[in-house]
Amino acid sequence: MADRLDAFLAHQGLGTRSEVRGLIRSGLVTVGGVVCRNHAEPLRGRPVTARGRPVVAGPEDATLLLHKPLGLSCSHDPAEAPLLESAYPPELAHLPIEPAGRLDRETSGLLVCTTDGQLIHSLTNPKRTIWKRYRIGYAGTLSAHAVERCAKGIALPDDDRPTMPALLELPGPGEATLHLREGRYHQVRRMIAALGGEVVRLHRDRIGALELPGDLPAGACRQLSPAEQAQLFAEPSPAIIVQ
Ligand code: URA
Repeated sequence: MADRLDAFLAHQGLGTRSEVRGLIRSGLVTVGGVVCRNHAEPLRGRPVTARGRPVVAGPEDATLLLHKPLGLSCSHDPAEAPLLESAYPPELAHLPIEPAGRLDRETSGLLVCTTDGQLIHSLTNPKRTIWKRYRIGYAGTLSAHAVERCAKGIALPDDDRPTMPALLELPGPGEATLHLREGRYHQVRRMIAALGGEVVRLHRDRIGALELPGDLPAGACRQLSPAEQAQLFAEPSPAIIVQ
């Protein structure tokens, strides 16, 4: 935890270093109950207020289970706003939370967002086999052998190797469920296009054996429990075996 006043305020999300220094210079910050204009003041455990409100040290890390709504971009580029980070709890604004993999702006569903780089690596490392389930609405007609083609692997334009074997289920007209164990750029949309359809709705509802909780509405997030984290790396049930 930062002990220097400007670093502490910036770390708690009150602004950039230069913005919080402006705040301090303006006499809007107290340390130990006394106005402090020294941006380098060491805190030594004393309470801090800014604009009359206590600034309390937030958590140092977080791992969130997020129900991504449609319309948010996973990018950090303000030009792409609204951004995924607008869905994170404001009290975690000081933390460098990243999504483990991305969903397109027009894809909804389960996303793990964390400060734990090792967890991100484990979830996105192509050498690991973590199944993800996508619920799809599509327009058009899929090729007669769509299921077999997914099971064998599909050649995608601009990709030098075919997709890994995947499981496609066709529960009804215009509806598909695709189980994938890799995460290439726009993979679901490109696979459905290669099969003759066009994705009109895309929602991810399972990673590993972890299902998107039915009581977590779109746009909401909460801490991922250790048991849920373990489920991310467990085989989904029923087991999916695609040769
Ligand atoms: N595949 C896609 O095409 N888009 C996503 O958001 C996720 C998987």
